[in-house]
Amino acid sequence: MISACTKHSLFSWSATGKVDPLPIHRAEGIYLYGPEGQRWLDWNSQLMSVNIGHGHPKVIKAIQDQAAQLAYAYPGMATEIRAKLSLRLAELVPGDLNTFFYTLGGAEANENAIKAARLFTGRNKILVRYRSYHGATHGAISLTGDPRRWPTEPGMPGVVRVMDPKPYDYSFGNTDEDIVRNNLTYLEEVIQYEGPKNIAAMFIETVTGTNGILPPPKGYLKGLKSLLEKHGILLVTDEVMCGWGRTGKLFAFQHGDIVPDICTMAKGLTSSYLPLGVMAVSDRIANHFRENVFWGGLTYNAHPLCLACALAAVNVLVDEGMVENAARMGTVMRGHMERLATKHRCIKEHRNIGLFGTIELCKNSKGDRLVPYAGSHPVMAHLGKFFKDNGLFTVLQWSTVMCNPPLCINESQMAEGFGIIDRGLDLVDAVFEG
Ligand SMILES: Cc1ncc(COP(=O)(O)O)c(C=O)c1O
Repeated sequence: MISACTKHSLFSWSATGKVDPLPIHRAEGIYLYGPEGQRWLDWNSQLMSVNIGHGHPKVIKAIQDQAAQLAYAYPGMATEIRAKLSLRLAELVPGDLNTFFYTLGGAEANENAIKAARLFTGRNKILVRYRSYHGATHGAISLTGDPRRWPTEPGMPGVVRVMDPKPYDYSFGNTDEDIVRNNLTYLEEVIQYEGPKNIAAMFIETVTGTNGILPPPKGYLKGLKSLLEKHGILLVTDEVMCGWGRTGKLFAFQHGDIVPDICTMAKGLTSSYLPLGVMAVSDRIANHFRENVFWGGLTYNAHPLCLACALAAVNVLVDEGMVENAARMGTVMRGHMERLATKHRCIKEHRNIGLFGTIELCKNSKGDRLVPYAGSHPVMAHLGKFFKDNGLFTVLQWSTVMCNPPLCINESQMAEGFGIIDRGLDLVDAVFEG
């Protein structure tokens, strides 16, 4: 199985000849199972996306029922499932984000948000932040600040990148209030230099994901929204990863008590049982596109199977209290991280908001990161192998150990995961330089 996969299919973000994929046969709840019965705890919900856990029977049945009734309809048609899901989303998504454009994933949702923002404002430039990932298609990778954009540059014109509220190394002790004031003063200066009337939107990951699980400092979202509003610039929150309960609220922007103009989502929307993304727009923007053409389309726009999957997955998430569980288990996660931090000198810091968490590793008592930005360290490969051999699947990104289990996890499963991490971190302590 592995050799056929690596011989006849390309693996993403890798030289396919060098990948060593985990063989997965089936999955249930928070566990993955190999063809020989091996079991791994899915500590990353695959790509921070299987929020309700694997194999939920209600979602599987909804997909089966929809397949039997109507598997596909072209995007110009009205379907019952399109009506049902759109009404349910209008109920669940806060504020006046009541209108939805369906895509097949997060990158396409962002591509369409670029179009919507430009068409609505008549402006061209887009502000984005360096520590971000917004998808791998041409426009979305141009919005992305992290090194995954480097090989395909120059990207889409009109993108202006700005610093994140917290600099990469921010151990200089500023308060959140200082950090927010400094960053927004700097941002307003950038806006003046670029010409406010040229800027359509700013895209942010409300809580930055693969670039380090970075919740915004207190006050940032409110301050940012009002600064952008002052200049007629739209705020687009990319909640592809942090949305749908991951942070302990249905949407991460609710932690900052704001409603963006556009919100993009995917992943947890269907818990990834089928591919689906969505761009949610405010009533003001939706009204614009009632009169003016929205120049966007996809063969699989509003695909009935994916919509049926989303409706069932979202209902499971809400009805089974998984958002509340994410908030509660987030506190349990923090307790484990604090315990490990007192034991392992290689832990630089740990962050989590709900079940969106990471442990960041360092190599010496000065707190220098184990892995420099966009670099590598051999011990991370050993740590990955240890986790794999000891029943834990997760993503190791530069100096971080990602901690993003499905939102249905319970206390004993959480303890099981941190037990494996605890033992694995001994390997990193062993190369600590002192
Ligand atoms: C914040 C964010 N935006 C966009 C994307 C792209 O989504 P997709 O891979 O579904 O195109 C991702 C994927 O990881 C993401 O984390």
